[in-house]
Amino acid sequence: MANSITQQIINFGEKAWGVLSLVMPKPFMDWLGITVAKLLFTYTDCSLADEEKKLNKAIPPAPLRYRVWGDPDIGTFMWSSNHCRKDIDRELDKLGVNWDTFYNILDFGCGSGRIFISLPDTIEDKYIGVDTDSQAISWCTENYPQARFQINPANPPMDFADSSFDLILAIAVFRHLDEKNQFSWLQELQRVTKKGGLLFISLHGEFCWQDFAPVETEVLKTNGFLFKQLTDPYQRSIFPEWYQATYHNQEYVKKYYDKYFEIVDYIPRGIEDETDLVICRKR
Ligand SMILES: C[S@@+](CC[C@H](N)C(=O)[O-])C[C@H]1O[C@@H](n2cnc3c(N)ncnc32)[C@H](O)[C@@H]1O
Repeated sequence: MANSITQQIINFGEKAWGVLSLVMPKPFMDWLGITVAKLLFTYTDCSLADEEKKLNKAIPPAPLRYRVWGDPDIGTFMWSSNHCRKDIDRELDKLGVNWDTFYNILDFGCGSGRIFISLPDTIEDKYIGVDTDSQAISWCTENYPQARFQINPANPPMDFADSSFDLILAIAVFRHLDEKNQFSWLQELQRVTKKGGLLFISLHGEFCWQDFAPVETEVLKTNGFLFKQLTDPYQRSIFPEWYQATYHNQEYVKKYYDKYFEIVDYIPRGIEDETDLVICRKR
């Protein structure tokens, strides 16, 4: 999909940011970044009511779209939501299952419902979305009363019994966790998954390292894991220290995730033709 106008402004802003940061003080640059983000939010939300009418569903407001998608644009937000749904459908189909196969579905790190909004209506009574972001959860609870949403702790345990779920989605979550958090959440998700249950995890794989400095690529090739500070001042003002930008290589995932789950498949660019998708099954 072509970049939205707001994404083009963000891309240009990031380049200008790099240059201006050499001469301007950091607090000013943070203020500037946050102010530009807020202006873009106001601009994109001018068409929110019309878009909701067309879709006949509530769409999260710009700040909540931006937090999970990195662009406040409504068109690309919905495009990405539909794409994720098709990507998940494709993989369920390959495994010979479908949405009706599952009894309890957990959307771990559901954010403002970007994945939920495109899921089939038939799963609503067996779906629960959890997130540490209380604003996103309040918004989902109010606007999608047909499903359940609840606040999740930053660290395990979750408020669920062992073996509660037969499908867990963790889309765009592990691509933000530090290494310690990653392993404690893999262990916790293993605990709440039923035997034979599936876990879908999306990660920043090799396709996402394209603009990296050689030293970063080297770290990824040798260690398989890189945790970088988020560059966007708005996102840094919202998220905690342990939530940054995380990158993986395939060998690392196959080696370390296998301690918690059987790795059924690893699909490079399996989500939105960009991020990698790992399909895990509880042994
Ligand atoms: C990039 S967003 C993706 C949201 C959603 N899955 C999507 O694809 O649109 C990552 C989300 O993970 C959430 N998150 C991070 N750590 C979490 C935790 N311990 N429990 C629940 N959610 C968490 C963040 O608050 C954020 O909303």
